[in-house]
Amino acid sequence: MKICVVGTGYVGLVTGVCMADLGNDVICVDIDEKKIANLNKNILPIYEPGLEELVKRNKARLTFTLDLKAAVKKSEIIFIAVGTPPRANGEADLSFVKEVAKQIGKSLNGYKVIVDKSTVPVGMGDLVESIIEDNSNNKFKFDVVSSPEFLKEGSAIQDFMNPDRIVIGAKKKDAAEKVAQIFKPLATKVIITDLRSAEMIKYASNSFLATKISFINEIANICEKVGADVETVANGMGIDRRIGKLFLNAGAGFGGSCFPKDVSALVNIARKEDYEPLILNAVIEVNKLQRKHVLGKIKKILGTIEGRQIGILGIAFKPNTDDIREAVALDIIAALLEKGCRIKAFDPVAMPNARKEVKGVTFVKDSYSAAENVECLVILTEWNEFRELDMKKIKGLMKNPAIVDGRNIYDPDKMKKLGFAYTGIGRN
Ligand code: UDX
Repeated sequence: MKICVVGTGYVGLVTGVCMADLGNDVICVDIDEKKIANLNKNILPIYEPGLEELVKRNKARLTFTLDLKAAVKKSEIIFIAVGTPPRANGEADLSFVKEVAKQIGKSLNGYKVIVDKSTVPVGMGDLVESIIEDNSNNKFKFDVVSSPEFLKEGSAIQDFMNPDRIVIGAKKKDAAEKVAQIFKPLATKVIITDLRSAEMIKYASNSFLATKISFINEIANICEKVGADVETVANGMGIDRRIGKLFLNAGAGFGGSCFPKDVSALVNIARKEDYEPLILNAVIEVNKLQRKHVLGKIKKILGTIEGRQIGILGIAFKPNTDDIREAVALDIIAALLEKGCRIKAFDPVAMPNARKEVKGVTFVKDSYSAAENVECLVILTEWNEFRELDMKKIKGLMKNPAIVDGRNIYDPDKMKKLGFAYTGIGRN
């Protein structure tokens, strides 16, 4: 099939490259000249395991271009995968989606299916349809389809190739089935529904996962009070198939480009309809409190925070990505700097991004350098390499052997035996 993907951000690039791997001819379009020039030289704008190899392998079926008009004309199916960043009030900024819809409308030269991949408010499919209609002078037929993506950063290719389900929302079954054809090789469950339900499935899924995280973090905080261990509690809960084991890791809270944005956007969607979403509000509130909770732990373990020397392990919002958007580390570092702390920080992959965003921190070359002469080491991302550190060496390097483990990667008993003042989340 001849496919065009507009937007070479996370979703667009991974989706485009993976669809090329399934045998389609894919034209990826972006307005960022540098990005397109780099992609044409095999330089990727993001770090995602396996993506670079996939781009190289499918070079013959992949084109990167700035020319949206020509790309639309050559394609049967056009994916919109541009950003919907949050505005200050939590609402999604839809200007990029609207602009792309306008351009698509102006470029139509025959029947096309336009697929919304960006996470957009419920009802956006209808708006995209009317924008395209207005800009194409009703000369050509088209259908708008919504097919939300569920990719996780760090395992996006694996997620694309082995999805739990594909959701396709459309007014006409034919259009939905045309899109479903692309995913046929994946032999997965395809849910065909109306536009609005498809859009809502995306928000509801992400909000539910965020709820699971805030829920287990609240349970962790109660565990600390009553002397229980949240890891054991989560395991005991997760074995019940109605609950499920995944997304029950207590810690410093969720970050990233999706959960914070999507939960806030759903709150806004509900409020516009005069519905106050109590659970969603609490999910956001608990997530904010969890960051404060980690700061409280640093204070408790050191007595005072002011002017202390702190080592930070992990800046990315989660392991296996260089993405630091809404990362817990950003808030913790800002709060510590405000208290006059001197900070050394290390992340295996996210340091180039962190250097651009975070000032006043000494970025060091490895975990051991982050531990050198500090009074407390704070773990904020559960990178595997942090699990396997020589903790005796770490202890020897630190000025004061204290660890605040914001991701519960160490065994509390082992740490205490080694002589650390250790505290995790929801464990005693
Ligand atoms: C998420 C959704 O999982 C994905 O389906 C959607 O398409 C995009 O948003 P992503 O943001 O890449 O994906 O990361 P994810 O692995 O879901 O983690 C999100 C955040 O939750 C991270 O900050 C992570 O550390 C945190 N998290 C996750 C927890 O704190 N505990 C958990 O048990 C799981």
